[in-house]
Amino acid sequence: MKFREIKNNVFYCGLNDRERKIFDELIPLEQGTSYNSYLVKGSEKTALIDTMYPPKSEEYLRNLDENNITHIDYIIANHGEQDHTGTLPKLIEKYPDAMIVTNQFCKNNIMEMLLIPENRIQVIKNEEELSLGDKTLKFIMAPGVHWPDTMFTYIVEDNLLCTCDFLGAHYTFDDIFANDSKELEHAAKRYYAEIMMPFRKMCQKYTKQVKELNPSMILPSHGPIYKNPEFILNLYEDWSSDEAKNLVVLPYVSMYGSVEEMIKYLSDKLNSAGIDTIKHDIVSDDLGDLAMAIVDAKTIILGASMVLAAPHPAAANAAYLVNLLNPKAKYASIIGSYGWGGDLIGKLSNMLCNLKVEIIEPILIKGKAKQDTYQKLDEMAQAIIERHKS
Ligand code: FEO
Repeated sequence: MKFREIKNNVFYCGLNDRERKIFDELIPLEQGTSYNSYLVKGSEKTALIDTMYPPKSEEYLRNLDENNITHIDYIIANHGEQDHTGTLPKLIEKYPDAMIVTNQFCKNNIMEMLLIPENRIQVIKNEEELSLGDKTLKFIMAPGVHWPDTMFTYIVEDNLLCTCDFLGAHYTFDDIFANDSKELEHAAKRYYAEIMMPFRKMCQKYTKQVKELNPSMILPSHGPIYKNPEFILNLYEDWSSDEAKNLVVLPYVSMYGSVEEMIKYLSDKLNSAGIDTIKHDIVSDDLGDLAMAIVDAKTIILGASMVLAAPHPAAANAAYLVNLLNPKAKYASIIGSYGWGGDLIGKLSNMLCNLKVEIIEPILIKGKAKQDTYQKLDEMAQAIIERHKS
């Protein structure tokens, strides 16, 4: 495959992976992903920015040959995770003069994870520059989006910013440039939800920093290149802001329908008061959709049946994931139903300990909802309505 030129001897040499079904063995991929790699040809030196996921190594190395890349001086590792560094061991064998350029944290990672010899790594610091002749690479440390080792590489003369995982999307494409479509926005939000939302404050910080830098294009490590950086930066500004939307998300698992009935009743009450809701069946619905839903939610109500005197494992899984993703929600509660007893509220509440939320009085009943249950659900709805209004 012929490398496509982005601008003035900067080329795209990444690959689509349309077959991949899941990322991090956690969130299903709707259409696979792409692993982006960029080749920068200066008048004196050539650099490769990020490399390739190991299962795609063969195709990646073949493409370098087919494009007559016989010499590489520097391989920039913006981040140590193997979807971008997995081909480094083969690359340093193929290009014996190439030095891997990265920060100290990433150096430690690639030495431990990929057994890269220390003498093949050149360590750089924040704002340090590397000359390729008529082009300069400037390194901007960006710890927290999403690993401590993450950095951006700025191609100074061309005003191009390689943002690593930040601002990316699990999205495959034929045209390397973003079409700013709703479909891309959906993919980028799903990616943000899983990968960047736990670092929401850092996303605020780097979105602002990238806006100030004002690059002409953003070159992320997954998904297409943004010729119009405002598209993705404005979305990140919204998703990472402290403002939650007038939305209640209700993930639930219901063994005999009692929990589902309560969730539906509450959701209908909220809808009639003008509050949007998303009901999410934890067992049958896509976990990525739940992650996306909680990006904007002001309130999260978890519904759960009990198994063996404890929360149903699916509810525990959802609580654990929500807690890890740490959304901006302001309020939360639990609705549960049990058969013969045990601790539901305590165990699930403990699993949500990262969330900085006010807990609205939970509801736990034996078996099916009764008249007093509906009264409690009305009270819960009222409590949510008041808080959303305020
Ligand atoms: Fe795309 Fe953090 O790796």
